[in-house]
Formats: sequence, C-alpha cells, structure tokens
Amino acid sequence: MALKITVIGTGYLGATHAAAMAELGFEVLALDIVREKIEMLERGETPMYEPGLEELLRRHVAGFEGSSGRLRFTQDWAEVGAFGDVHFVCVNTPQKHGEYACDMSYVESAVASLAPHLTRPALVVGKSTVPVGSADRLARTIAALAPVGEEAELAWNPEFLREGFAVQDTLHPDRIVVGVRSERAETLLRQVYETPVAEGTPFVVTDFPTAELVKTSANSFLATKISFINAMAEVCEAADGDVAKLAEAIGYDDRIGKKFLRAGIGFGGGCLPKDIRAFMARAGELGADQALTFLREIDSVNMRQRGRMVELARQELGGGSFLGKRIAVLGATFKPDSDDVRDSPALNVAGQIHLQGGQVTVYDPKGMENARRLFPTLGYADSALDAVRGADAVLHLTEWREFRDLDPAALGEVATDRLILDGRNALDPELWRKAGWTYRAMGRPTA
Ligand code: UGA
Repeated sequence: MALKITVIGTGYLGATHAAAMAELGFEVLALDIVREKIEMLERGETPMYEPGLEELLRRHVAGFEGSSGRLRFTQDWAEVGAFGDVHFVCVNTPQKHGEYACDMSYVESAVASLAPHLTRPALVVGKSTVPVGSADRLARTIAALAPVGEEAELAWNPEFLREGFAVQDTLHPDRIVVGVRSERAETLLRQVYETPVAEGTPFVVTDFPTAELVKTSANSFLATKISFINAMAEVCEAADGDVAKLAEAIGYDDRIGKKFLRAGIGFGGGCLPKDIRAFMARAGELGADQALTFLREIDSVNMRQRGRMVELARQELGGGSFLGKRIAVLGATFKPDSDDVRDSPALNVAGQIHLQGGQVTVYDPKGMENARRLFPTLGYADSALDAVRGADAVLHLTEWREFRDLDPAALGEVATDRLILDGRNALDPELWRKAGWTYRAMGRPTA
C-alpha cells in the first residue's frame, strides 16, 4: 500500500516538500500552527514568491478543479498522528535573539506535540537545520511519549533546497542524505524517494550526527567559498587586479569549480549567516570551537563587504557625506528570484546610506512589499527607471535578470550622473561604459 505522508510546518521548506511529495504520488496531510498560512495554501497561494510552487500546489491541493486532491491541510495533531506512516518535520530554526545559537523551540514543540499521537507505527523524519546532537535528543522524546512505543522512530534527512529553485531542488535533489538507526527507517525512506533515486540521485545513509553535520558543513563550505572570493576582491583592489577574471581563471580548475565565486556584497538570507553562527556556537558547546574559528573570519569578511560597498559609493560620489545625494538602489532581496529580504546585503547597504543622510530610492522586482515592511523609511519606486530618475549614483545590489536587461542609454537619459556601482559583479561593464557610464565594482579595476 502506498505510504501516507504528513508534513509539519508549511513555511518555505514544508510547503515545497508537501507539494513535491504529492507530485511524487503520495497522499499528503500538512499541518501548520498558523491558521492563515494554511488558508493561503488551501487557496493555492504561497506566502512567499517561489517560481513554480503555486502551480505545483494547485496541481495537488484538494478542491482545485483538475487537481489530484492528494494534498490536504489540517491543524489537528491527532489527525496527523492517525494519518501518517512518515511524518516530515519542516519547521524553522532561526537564530536566537542576541546569541549565535539557533532557536530549537519550534522543532522541539513540533515533536512534543506529535509524539503523543503516534498510535500506529510511524517514522518521524527531521528536515530542519539543527545543531548536531538534536536528533539523538528528539529520538528520546519520541521514545518517551509515543503510545506505540518502539514502533515509532526518528530519522534525520537534511534539506538542501535553494530559494528560487526550491521546486526543482526538491523534486530532483543532487543528493539525499538520511541519518537512520534501523533498516526499517532506511527502507521507508528509500520508498519515499524511489523516484529521484531511480533518476540517479545518490542516496547516502549515515548515522544521526553525520546527517546533521552534512547540512551545516555544506552551508559553511558555500559561505567559505563566497568569503574567499570576496577576500580576493579586497586584495585585487589593493593590487589593481580583476577579481572577476581571477574567479574565471581559478574556476577552470575543476577541483575549485566556478560556482559560488561571484564577488560582491556577500551572502545573506535566512540560511547561510545563521547556519555558520549556530555551527560555531554548537562546536563551542562540544569543546571543538577551535576547529571552527575560521568561520568567524568568514562571517566578518562577509559582513565587511556591505560597509565596503557603502565606502565605494561615498568615494565615487566625491568622498564627502551622503547628505543631499540621491541614490538609486536596484535590488532589495538577498538574491534574485526570491522575495526574501531576511538579512539582505542589498537592504543593509541601502539602509546604511539612508542612515548617513543619503536619499535612497529602492526598486526590486519581487521584494518591494517585504522591504517596505522591514525598512519603511527608505524611498521606493515602481520601476528601475523611476528609481534611477534624478539619481547621482545607481547601486546594483541584487542580480535580477531584469537589471541585466536594462538599457544603459535609456537610464542615462534620466539619471543626474551616469555612475553605476555593481555590487554583484553581474552587469556587463563594456555595455555601460559605452553608454557613457562610469562603471565601478568591488575588486575590479577602474576603466
Ligand atoms: C542556501 C544553500 O545554497 C542551500 O543549499 C541550502 O539548502 C539553503 O541555504 C538552506 O540552508 O536552506 P539560499 O539561502 O537559498 O540557499 O541561497 P544561496 O543561493 O546559497 O545564496 C546565499 C547568498 O550568497 C545570497 O545572498 C547570494 O547572493 C550570495 N552569493 C551566492 C554570493 O554572494 N556569491 C556567490 O557566488 C553565490
């Protein structure tokens, strides 16, 4: 008989995972403690912008014409316990206020709410990003609270999806990692992921701590790559080198690879920054803090880029204060194809200039609403052209395709000064220079 799946927590990870499980052919029941989130999903809408996700939901949410009807929602823990063979825990683990460690309260409360309703054999599968050692503790919670006793167990199955590619990454992951303690758990997870495994996705079986560590170490590695190239950008600048050429050239070495070597204002978002901090905090608890002190440097190289962008803008505007200067900011989200502004380097730079007296006008294709909510005192425009109108400098801070497709000549007509600062090293310098713009980017030579 086909497995029945539940998904607990319908944020980014959970909503995508639930829809993907329905797409793979399973009956899915998803729970969230926030009523409004469920009501939105039931209407086939998502609280965030994620390409392809609404279409996928509408293909499966019960009640849509032509939908498979395989995806339903609830707020009833007893219903979840009675329904599921496999329960995926997909709640978030944000950074704790004022601390590096992550806040495990959502995960803990999800497991504690579910466990007393495990009245039939079930596998609880953690997907949230957690400090190593959490799975072992949560397994003990389940053992203590599940009425079905040993027939309820835990597995850990970290998620590697990227915002902007969430659907693709969930349906066709580049690897599946499962931390398990029994053959039964492994067999169930092989059944769940039968389709991607048949397509060739590697299936890596580990113990609990390794599965937890795979996730945090992967994100730490990615963060390290970005900060590495940003450190090289600082050196290039001091030595008159060109970091974009440098990245291209080292990237041809396939041991290094060319991805995640785009220098600029650095990484942000809801994952990389908080994950490397939580990892350092956890290593400290384990007495292994020395092993991760380099992450402190990765974090500080990254945070420094935001300030360096502000200084580049100040310098190009004549070196004085920002008072009376009009700055157009293209991009507010932490990366393109997302409306997520959490710890966004773009908004951070815009905010710093604004707080130093600059008149900042922001435009972003999808992030306007979230940016306005977070930073209501910035100016906002309805298009790139409107943002640039009258600007003394244009800052390109999130590399949306729409910005690469802009016509520098048309923008030049409305700008006060033709000064473009590319904080993402993603625009074509030649194109902008030909249209009379001064193009500057971090780690790149002046023309
Ligand atoms: C990241 C990881 O890439 C995913 O594998 C992981 O599953 C996810 O975190 C998570 O833990 O949930 P995401 O936060 O969506 O995914 O964003 P990334 O694509 O990793 O980009 C992170 C930041 O790095 C962005 O601000 C981006 O602009 C920046 N970046 C990326 C650079 O500055 N340079 C680069 O070369 C690449």
